[in-house]
Amino acid sequence: MKRIIFGLLLVSVSLIASENSISLEKGAALYIKKCAICHGENADKTPIKNMKPIAGMEAEKVGRILVNYQNDITEDDLRISHGYNEIMVGATLYLSRKDIDNIAMYVSSLKK
Ligand code: HEC
Repeated sequence: MKRIIFGLLLVSVSLIASENSISLEKGAALYIKKCAICHGENADKTPIKNMKPIAGMEAEKVGRILVNYQNDITEDDLRISHGYNEIMVGATLYLSRKDIDNIAMYVSSLKK
């Protein structure tokens, strides 16, 4: 009995882990669908002048910037504004926190 309970416990713990872990695959799919049109398939293009491509940007930074855009938060040093914020507010509107983490990890994995 003890063994069965332990086994079940292990299964549920690993299920929770896979549910919560970052997925590059999901991030890539979301990126292609929601971001590539403006930032380029490999995140090597820029939608506006005077902006660096986002490929290779630190995941944590991408995540925070996206959350900031999504919530229209301007009082954060990382919220780099180029004057076109509404575009990114729209682009991030329906992303979950998990989606954002997955996308951020994918963007940071791309070559600069
Ligand atoms: C319709 C075009 C468009 C789409 C779609 C789009 N972006 Fe953007 N993105 C922009 C523009 C324009 C800016 C500059 C906004 C500003 O003025 O701050 C920007 C800014 C950013 C920045 C800040 C970069 C910097 O150095 O200032 C990041 C990071 C970013 N986008 C990531 C993403 C991600 C990830 C997605 C997909 C979820 C996405 N964008 C979707 C057009 C777009």
